[in-house]
Amino acid sequence: MPEASLPDKVPVIMFVDDETSVLSALRRLSVDSRYRCEFFTAPHDALDFAKQEAVAVVISDNQMPAMTGIEFLARMRHVSPDTVRIMMTAYANLGVAISAINHSEAFRFITKPWDNAELLALIDEGVARYDMLTSMKSRDESRYRSLAQTVELKDPYTRGHCDRVAEYAEKLARAVGIGEPLLTCIRHGSILHDCGKIGVPEEVLNFPGKLTLQEFEIIKQHPDWGTRVAREANLPEAVVNVILYHHERVDGSGYPAGLTGENIPIESRIVAIADVYDALTSDRPYRKGNTSADATEILMGLAGLLDPQLLELFREKVISEISSSEFV
Ligand SMILES: [Fe+2]
Repeated sequence: MPEASLPDKVPVIMFVDDETSVLSALRRLSVDSRYRCEFFTAPHDALDFAKQEAVAVVISDNQMPAMTGIEFLARMRHVSPDTVRIMMTAYANLGVAISAINHSEAFRFITKPWDNAELLALIDEGVARYDMLTSMKSRDESRYRSLAQTVELKDPYTRGHCDRVAEYAEKLARAVGIGEPLLTCIRHGSILHDCGKIGVPEEVLNFPGKLTLQEFEIIKQHPDWGTRVAREANLPEAVVNVILYHHERVDGSGYPAGLTGENIPIESRIVAIADVYDALTSDRPYRKGNTSADATEILMGLAGLLDPQLLELFREKVISEISSSEFV
């Protein structure tokens, strides 16, 4: 029982299938030691287990004599709502799996016979989503920070990015005269703004050259991915606005909604400026970061894309404060 020696915080993955041969094959699957795997032939036993322990991801067969996979996953949703539910199904029953997703009983499906690499990637994605949801639900800023750091680890060039964006955005919000509770929402939104990148493959995030259109389309989904989980966690609307709209541009050229001017919530316009300024002053795989003077010049040239009044305020009140503190 090598699992017993693992520390408590290792995410638990649960496999449920009435066929022992399938479970044996799953046991042989080299799920790495970051996870503790539990195997059940009886769905009722799996439900009892999930009542006792926090389960990050469950992978269930659909055709089982005691209970269908759909019924089991529906019960899992009730017993342990944060657990990410994956259905494993024969190709012939794909329709059942898709309707399970449409009815929200399942997050994804995988067909039998499965591809090990595909299954492991799906488990990783499920665990990332579970971490994201439970961190957001905790309403604990330090957990938001560690979530942001997990994303930053995927791309070493962004280390500290979320904290800096939060600092700049909060300063700009104060300069605008924004008070609580919006100020805290702006800080939390800034920390979480890129959390949807947890779903973007590392090789795309770290790619040193120009991205293909297809890769860029993947990156462009991160505001939506983050928002979906933030909404499930019932985060305040202003926090969700920052996650969803931080890539909107005032001329309508941004994504995902193509909003213009003041149709973009002010909290999102503020964070967009902080985000761009930090990107300009940070090193990238293909270039060194700009000095604060150069970054200011480039930033002010973006008045057609970023809110011009906020930009002016950012230059006057925030950049001067940041660059003077660089020498302290
Ligand atoms: Fe972003």
